Amino acid sequence: MNKNTPIDYEIVTSNINKVEVDDLTDATIREIVAMVNNIEKETGEKFIRMEMGVPGIMPPEVGTKAEIEALQNGIASKYPMLDGINPLKEETSKFIKNFIGLDIAPEHCMPTVGSMQGGYATFMLASNLDEKKDTALFIDPGFPVQKMQFQVMGHKYASFDVYEHRGEKLRVKLEEYLSKGNINSIIYSNPNNPSWVCLTDEELKIIGELANKYDVIIIEDLAYFGMDFRKDISEPGKPPYQSTVANYTDNYILLISGSKAFSYAGQRLGLVCFSDKLFMREYPNLKKRFGVAGIGYTFIQKLIYTLSSGTCHSAQYAMAAMLKAANEGTLNLTNYLQIYKEKAATMKKLFTDNGFNIVYDKDIDKELADGFYFTISYPNMTGGELLKNLIYYGISAIGLKNCGSNRTEGLRACVSQVNPNQFADLEKRVKQFKQDFAI
Ligand SMILES: Cc1ncc(COP(=O)(O)O)c(C=O)c1O
Repeated sequence: MNKNTPIDYEIVTSNINKVEVDDLTDATIREIVAMVNNIEKETGEKFIRMEMGVPGIMPPEVGTKAEIEALQNGIASKYPMLDGINPLKEETSKFIKNFIGLDIAPEHCMPTVGSMQGGYATFMLASNLDEKKDTALFIDPGFPVQKMQFQVMGHKYASFDVYEHRGEKLRVKLEEYLSKGNINSIIYSNPNNPSWVCLTDEELKIIGELANKYDVIIIEDLAYFGMDFRKDISEPGKPPYQSTVANYTDNYILLISGSKAFSYAGQRLGLVCFSDKLFMREYPNLKKRFGVAGIGYTFIQKLIYTLSSGTCHSAQYAMAAMLKAANEGTLNLTNYLQIYKEKAATMKKLFTDNGFNIVYDKDIDKELADGFYFTISYPNMTGGELLKNLIYYGISAIGLKNCGSNRTEGLRACVSQVNPNQFADLEKRVKQFKQDFAI
């Protein structure tokens, strides 16, 4: 390898050697973050940081103001109710009507400590509904820490990479798992972290139909709400709406995160929304396991109570205010988030002009949307080799291998932390990369 790399060769090598993995694609996001922090500190050079999905924009002022006001009114001294403050529940229900076109009663919308907790609690619920159904099914690639949640809970999961199973083929693949009778739930994010694949309405319909046929719960993770920029859902109460499986089944739980759509990641606020019908359902095994049969009741009074006893009181006021602004049309989500699309378009071009390929490149017959993430590979390199080599060129990302993808040659690139004033550096670095690793 050419040792005349943009970032000091010896410093990079010594830092890579300190990460306790044989292949860098096995490193967690946080391990890559720590490694790059060290290299930046030791060399004084700035990286093109694409490893972590930190929102790169300021949160809407209306949210921050509402939270400050709530704190000034002394809300910090009061325990929040387990199921959330009424204004937040009301605005969530309206938001769902306005931007997804669905009716969900305010009582069935609950705040959680980020969608991380929403996932943990709903995965635990789904894993305890029926003794025979002991396995959750991920439509991968996916967000690695959700698998870690299963590992921590000691519950089982299965998964497959959706890449080869798009469209009608998805039905065949799902039935292969569901027909065994041990699956309790299907979990996916849409738009997808890490691939930015967006399931089509045809695919969501297949998932919904199978949820009805096999009586499984769909946990639809909408962490990137409204961010399939190919359709503008930003006008309240008017189609097009956020795509969802909820149009095809009542067996659903939606996870909506405040982190990306509202840049409120630091305050850890997510929303868990049960379909009205599912919330009221009773399961004998829940009664055996937790002493209560109702799924909605168990979620609030057993799981949320024991996990955190509610969600940060002041952050709930922030989220209520931001949702209200979106509902009333004074906060336009699409305009607010547009920067991610613009950055992705430029960055993807810089990579593909210099020999890189986009790994997940199509939603069946449509070009993938530009958004928060995209995926890259380079000819004749494994994901581990590519990630390692890119570090010497001051570019960081994470491997797709850790995300349940079969495309182990690929990396996930996140656009949020990259400043447009770094595009010139990115171009210089990928150009040199192409020269040094001639195809
Ligand atoms: C698909 C997916 N689900 C859930 C989360 C977690 O969201 P939160 O910050 O609300 O806990 C993320 C965050 O990156 C994500 O990408």
